[in-house]
Amino acid sequence: MMLWQSVVGKLWFTILLLVSVVLSILMVLLLRSLEQHNLTEAETQLQKHASMLATIYEEQGNDPDNREMIDRYGENFSSNIAIFEAGEKVWSSENYLPFRLPPEVFTEDTDLSRVLQEGAVVAKEADFRPRSASIDSEMETIMVVGVPLNNVDNGAVYMYQTLSIIEQTSNETRRIVYLSAGIAIILTTVFAFFLSSRMTAPLRKMRQAALEVAEGNFQTKVPILTHDEIGQLAIAFNRMRRELNRNIAALNQEKEQLARILSSMADGVMTFNRKGEVVVMNPPAERFFEDWRYEMELQESIAHQLPEEMNELFQKVVTQEREELIEIVVQGRSWAILMAPLYDQEDVRGTVAVIRDMTEERLHDKLRKDFIANVSHELRTPISLLQGYSEAIVDDVAGTEEDQKEIARIIYDESLRMGRLVNELLDLARMEAGHTELNKAEVNIQEFSERMIRKFYGYAAEDGLHLTTHLTGENPIVWIDPDRMEQVLTNLLHNAIRHTEQGGDVALNIRLKTDIIEIDVADTGSGIKEEDLPFVFERFYKGDKSRTRGRSGTGLGLAIAKNIVEAHQGELSVHSRMNKGTTFSIHLPRITVEADER
Ligand SMILES: Nc1ncnc2c1ncn2[C@@H]1O[C@H](COP(=O)(O)OP(=O)(O)OP(=O)(O)O)[C@@H](O)[C@H]1O
Ligand SMILES: [Mg+2]
Repeated sequence: MMLWQSVVGKLWFTILLLVSVVLSILMVLLLRSLEQHNLTEAETQLQKHASMLATIYEEQGNDPDNREMIDRYGENFSSNIAIFEAGEKVWSSENYLPFRLPPEVFTEDTDLSRVLQEGAVVAKEADFRPRSASIDSEMETIMVVGVPLNNVDNGAVYMYQTLSIIEQTSNETRRIVYLSAGIAIILTTVFAFFLSSRMTAPLRKMRQAALEVAEGNFQTKVPILTHDEIGQLAIAFNRMRRELNRNIAALNQEKEQLARILSSMADGVMTFNRKGEVVVMNPPAERFFEDWRYEMELQESIAHQLPEEMNELFQKVVTQEREELIEIVVQGRSWAILMAPLYDQEDVRGTVAVIRDMTEERLHDKLRKDFIANVSHELRTPISLLQGYSEAIVDDVAGTEEDQKEIARIIYDESLRMGRLVNELLDLARMEAGHTELNKAEVNIQEFSERMIRKFYGYAAEDGLHLTTHLTGENPIVWIDPDRMEQVLTNLLHNAIRHTEQGGDVALNIRLKTDIIEIDVADTGSGIKEEDLPFVFERFYKGDKSRTRGRSGTGLGLAIAKNIVEAHQGELSVHSRMNKGTTFSIHLPRITVEADER
C-alpha cells in the first residue's frame, strides 16, 4: 500500500501540515513584531540621542569645541547630524553615511518641516535620497529624527542613519527563527510518524486478523493493547470472532448431522428445486439412478437426467401441491417413489422424493398368492379323487369285492397324502413363524448315519441302487436334534433315490471338522435344471410335475429341510448338473453343549 493511502500516512501528513501552517503563521507574526520592535527601539534611541545633542547645543551654542563633540557623537552613532537655526542649516557633521541629505529635505518634507515650524519632535523612515543621487542604486530606507531647539527660533537638530544596522539584527533573529522552525518541523515529522504508527499498530493487527478470519481461521485473537476506542474495537472484534466461530461450528454440525442422516438412510432421498433439477441425492437414491441409467444405456455424463415418470410426477406434485406416489420397475426391481412439495414460507420451492425398494414386498405378495394357488391345487387333486371314488362306492359302480378294495385303498392313500400335506404345511408355517423347537441331544453321528442307511437300504435295493455311507474326521459326537435331522436326511435320501435311475449311486458322506460338520447327500441321478436351482428350496417347487405326481411328492420337503438346518444355525445348499447327479450339502457349525445352553 502506498504510504499516503494508509492511515499512518494520512495522520502523519495531517499533523505535519497542521504544524507547518501554525509555525509559518507564528513565524510571520513573530518576525513582524520583532522588526517593529527593533524599529521603534532604534527610533527612541535615535530620538534620545538627538534630544541629548539638542540640549548640548542649546547650552553650549555654536562653538567649535561643541561642534567637534557633536560630530564625535555622530561618528559613534554612525549617523549624520544637521543643525538648523531660523529655518536655515547652520552646521552639519562629517559624512558618516555613504550619502548626505540636502537641507531641502528637512525644510520641505511635510513631516520633517514640522520640527522647524511647530517645534514638534518627529521621527520618520523613508527614502529621502534625491532622485539624482547615484551613491547606492539599492533602495535604502533612512530613519530621520528631528528635535526642536528650544532657545532658537525655528531651530532644530536632525539626526539620520540608514536602517541597515537594524536590518542586520533582524536578519540575525530571522535566522534563529527559521532554524528553530526547521528543527521543529523535523522533530514533528519524526514524532508524528511514531505517534501515528503507534496508534494504528493495533488497527493493522486487527486487519491481519480479519483477513485470517475471512479465510476461515477463527483461532486468531487480536491482542488488546490499549483501553481506548481501538482497544474496545479489538474486544468487539474478538467477541465477533468467537460468535462467528460458534455459529459456524453449530451450522456445520447441523449440516453434518443432516448429511449423515441422509447417507445412512436405507431409503433413497432426493430434493428438487423449482426447475426440477436435483439438489440433493443420498447414496441409495444414487444406486437407483445407476440402475436406471444402466437400463436406459445412458452415459454417466448426462447424470441427473430423470426418468420420464419422475418428471411427470414432479410436474403433478408442483401443480397440485399434493404428495403423490408412483411405482417404477427398473432392472427387475420395483421402486416406490413418494414425492411431496417443499415449501418456502408459502410458495412451493421444490419437491422432496423418497425412493424405496419395494421388491421384497412385491415378491412376498406374489409368494402369498402363489402359495394359496399351490395349496388349493394340491388339495383339489386328492379331493376330486376322493369325491370320484366315494361316488363310485355310493353308486355301487364297483362290482367285485376286489374293485371295492382297490377303490377303498386309493381313498385311504389319498386321505393319507392330504393329511401329510396339511401336517407339513402346518410344520412349515410354524417353523417360518420362528417356532422351531429343537430338542437337542448329544448324538453319535456315525451311528446316526448308519441307521439312516439301514432305513433306506431296502428301498434303494428295490430300485437297484447302491447306497453307501462314508465318514471322515474325529469326534463323532454332535449336538443336534436327532428327530429333526432325521426328517431332513430322510427327505434328502428319499429325493435322491426317487430321482436316480436303476444302477445309480446314492451316497451319504460325512466330514467331521474342528468347527464344522459337513453332510453331503450325493446321487448320480437326473439332476436339476440350472435355472431351477435357486428355487428348489421354495415351497411347492417340483422339478417335473407330471413325473413326480405318481410318486406322491408335495414339494414341501426341501423347504422344511432348509428351515430345520437353519434352526441349527447351519446352511443347506445344492449343486447339480443335468443327467450327472445332484449333491445337497449341509454345513452345521459345531456348537458345544455349554455354548448352546448359555
Ligand atoms: N436329488 C434330486 N435329484 C433331482 N431332483 C431333485 C432332487 N431332490 C429334489 N429334487 C427336485 O426338487 C423338487 C422338490 O423336492 P422336495 O423334496 O421339496 O419335494 P418332493 O420330494 O417333491 O415332495 P416331498 O418331499 O414333500 O414328498 C422335487 O420335486 C424334485 O423335482
Ligand atoms: Mg422330497
